[in-house]
Amino acid sequence: MATMESLIGLVNKIQRACTVLGDHGGQGMSLWEALPSVAVVGGQSSGKSSVLESIVGRDFLPRGSGIVTRRPLVLQLHKTQSGAEYAEFLHAPKRRFTDFAAVRKEISDETDRITGKTKQISNIPIHLSIYSPNVVNLTLIDLPGLTKVAVEGQSDSIVEDIENMVRSYVEKVSFLTLASCYMTFDAKMYMTQSKPNCIILAITPANQDIATSDAIKLAREVDPSGERTFGVLTKLDLMDKGTNATEVLEGRAYRLQHPWVGIVNRSQADINKNVDMIVARRKEREYFETSPDYGHLASKMGSEYLAKLLSQHLELVIRQRIPSIISMINKTIDELNAELDRIGRPVAADGGAQLYMILELCRAFDRVFKEHLDGGRPGGDR
Ligand code: GDP
Ligand code: NA
Ligand code: MG
Repeated sequence: MATMESLIGLVNKIQRACTVLGDHGGQGMSLWEALPSVAVVGGQSSGKSSVLESIVGRDFLPRGSGIVTRRPLVLQLHKTQSGAEYAEFLHAPKRRFTDFAAVRKEISDETDRITGKTKQISNIPIHLSIYSPNVVNLTLIDLPGLTKVAVEGQSDSIVEDIENMVRSYVEKVSFLTLASCYMTFDAKMYMTQSKPNCIILAITPANQDIATSDAIKLAREVDPSGERTFGVLTKLDLMDKGTNATEVLEGRAYRLQHPWVGIVNRSQADINKNVDMIVARRKEREYFETSPDYGHLASKMGSEYLAKLLSQHLELVIRQRIPSIISMINKTIDELNAELDRIGRPVAADGGAQLYMILELCRAFDRVFKEHLDGGRPGGDR
């Protein structure tokens, strides 16, 4: 029986294939939207890109003060068995990046390609896949930070534009509210179930009052029950002397369904000195283990723990969704078959061949899901 890890791997593959096929009409997108991903939300410079880098265990994102992340980055992590480690962009599929500094440069260049070297943003996402033995299978989305005012060189609407962009990734089916008064209860239930809501990593810097957290404010609005929000507290090392964050980390200041995770990312000085990711992770672990304030929480703190927590949660979500995903896949298979009948079976590497490939993927996907349904007891064995 396939393990849940291979199942998530397959989900990743299908998501990628669906992205490639995005312009082949609706069938791909519904599948893409049916599968969960993780989005980072928070104020500008709260440490969003740094947290994503730590989860991946690699230096590859542009980071720093001010508005650095200016386009959404949809990042798919694929665990490799072979030990191979490389990255690929959807916009440059033939180029295999093994140098992660070059990945960072390509993200910057590709951002500028749309926005110019400005402080403007664009909601056209960049798609990046990272293959590595050191990651868990996850789809992560890095987003521009929420701000309060437009700075020189930005349009007056930028504050709203960023908020709307972030919302479009983390909100429940957006037209649901609009259409809800015309819909039956069943239809609403179907729609909320058929589009899983993405997992929100709500990033709050510890050197700022939790009551002023943009991340928590937005997360509370789009996920009032807190079932898909993970609170992440960064910059613990930058808190004023004599203060600590145990109130937040122990869930007493602001309660979420999932436990808060504290993080110590690299400081700007560390980044400037090129402090290695492995060294940074070790320092982070030492920070918690030797801390008089957080020692008792050490095993549930840090980026590695956060990555594990997310992966476990994602497995749970996928498991719960297996029945509705199966029906969606069957629908997709039917649609693809109809489409193939219409255009004829492919002979060359054209659009038809891509459809055919997707169809094969869907069939494989369907088989693995059914195996899980038949073979696994509910709630899960591994
Ligand atoms: P983003 O704008 O939310 O994506 O934030 P970045 O990840 O780009 O980080 C902004 C700045 O804060 C960078 O200079 C980071 O080095 C710094 N930073 C982020 N997290 C931490 C942390 O936990 N501790 C320290 N000391 N600095 C951090
Ligand atoms: Na920043
Ligand atoms: Mg960023």
